[in-house]
Amino acid sequence: MTTITLHPDFRIGPVDRRVFGSFVEHLGRCVYTGIYEPGHATADAHGFRGDVADLTRELGVTMLRYPGGNFVSNYTWEDAVGPVGQRKPFLDLAWRTVEPNLVGTDEFLQYCEREGIEPMMAVNLGTRGIDAAIGLLEYCNGEAGTKWADMRIANGREEPYGVKLWCLGNEMDGPWQIGHKDAHEYGKLAAATGRAMRQVDPSIELVACGSSSMMMDTFGEWERTVLSYCYDVVDHISMHAYYEEMEGDRASFLGSGTAMSTFIERVAASADAIGAQKRSDKRISISFDEWNVWYLFSRFVGETNLPVQKDAPRIIEDVYSALDAVVVGDLIISLLGHADRVAVGCLAQLVNVIAPIMTEPDGPAWRQTTFHPFATAARLARGDALQVKVDSATMATAKHGDVPVVTAAATVDPSTGALALFVTNRSDSEQEVTLRHPGATARIDGGSAVLADHVGPREGQEAAESYGMVDALPVSHEDGTITLRLAPESWTAFHGTLEG
Ligand code: AHR
Repeated sequence: MTTITLHPDFRIGPVDRRVFGSFVEHLGRCVYTGIYEPGHATADAHGFRGDVADLTRELGVTMLRYPGGNFVSNYTWEDAVGPVGQRKPFLDLAWRTVEPNLVGTDEFLQYCEREGIEPMMAVNLGTRGIDAAIGLLEYCNGEAGTKWADMRIANGREEPYGVKLWCLGNEMDGPWQIGHKDAHEYGKLAAATGRAMRQVDPSIELVACGSSSMMMDTFGEWERTVLSYCYDVVDHISMHAYYEEMEGDRASFLGSGTAMSTFIERVAASADAIGAQKRSDKRISISFDEWNVWYLFSRFVGETNLPVQKDAPRIIEDVYSALDAVVVGDLIISLLGHADRVAVGCLAQLVNVIAPIMTEPDGPAWRQTTFHPFATAARLARGDALQVKVDSATMATAKHGDVPVVTAAATVDPSTGALALFVTNRSDSEQEVTLRHPGATARIDGGSAVLADHVGPREGQEAAESYGMVDALPVSHEDGTITLRLAPESWTAFHGTLEG
């Protein structure tokens, strides 16, 4: 029998709303014909698509990371500010695409402001360094009276933007990264850049690059070395992880959330080891600033095999299946279950590129299957994450060993007692779950679910939008016992109340 036990007094900590962030990179059609398409029927006065903005709002995105990604590592931000007509295109070496520089820092930050979304900026520590980083920070956050702040004002923006979150480069351990560095080179540069940036604006939060995946040969050693240089300077260490079904190994794919949890716990342990060595009271938190399902090994040709292109080429436009939606839901369970550690999360990316939202140039925008679990969790997960005890059978996977059949995370809003309970059933049979709440009063008022199937990727607007959340299987409250039923291979979001 599977049981889930909850009590309102057993809390992990507040859910940082920034965990429901996403990512806008100058890659393929994420920016051009994604968020931005002047001339589109729904475009606003600034050229940003209204249909995409509406869907982004419905998705519940709280934060957007920009401008990369690999793109940032050869980016000259100064070329993309000021009068648009005077900006020159450049060849972005990361994605081998001619970047027209029509959207730059001001356009992006003002878009975020209009949409009520917090921006997260990345600085180029690939081809550039301290000077470009402090210039960009001053341009964004400086008060009038110094060179870069005055340039922003001359470009039409009086008020500083007050950008809080800053990534010190991107995936600098990756040999594919323009200006790739070893851990010592990067650690020293990140520490020096971070220190200089704090002189410009002490109120910022800084993210050091962690390993670009747990599979990197340098994983662990990279975190240890980098943090030994910049532990005192940074607030967060980044994590990136993409999951995919490989060679029909459905069980391992469904177990991805367990792999994500292991990854988080290993990075946290590496950071804490450095903290212990330094006898530091400070705790580094995690910025999981790229996560998603991405058919990286089975569908992507690889950065270096891309031809040089222009006009927003179609790159990495993964089309998602129902199974992918269940896995995305399960990954959210892992993030919420580590709410004491994960401060930032970015579903990579927002539009067209491995994204929950797809568009056609001059055409419609629509929701992919993966849109639904994210939007549901972003709407329901409020207040504090609870310590959820799940007693479940396990299932064998080739990649991750035995993983629990049922996984769960829960939040409770301390001011209202509103409970959100997210549960994955990874098995191909229906599961019955007893919800225990010793010493507390609980009630489940309803729920909705995403269900996996064997249909495969849902290509195009019609196929994608024929998929959505369905009602959860009925919940019983008999003799004070709450029994939940979970459909096979499903992710369910229940809502109700939990009071002590
Ligand atoms: O999100 C796509 C790419 O994946 C990003 O540019 C890079 O940081 C990661 O490898």
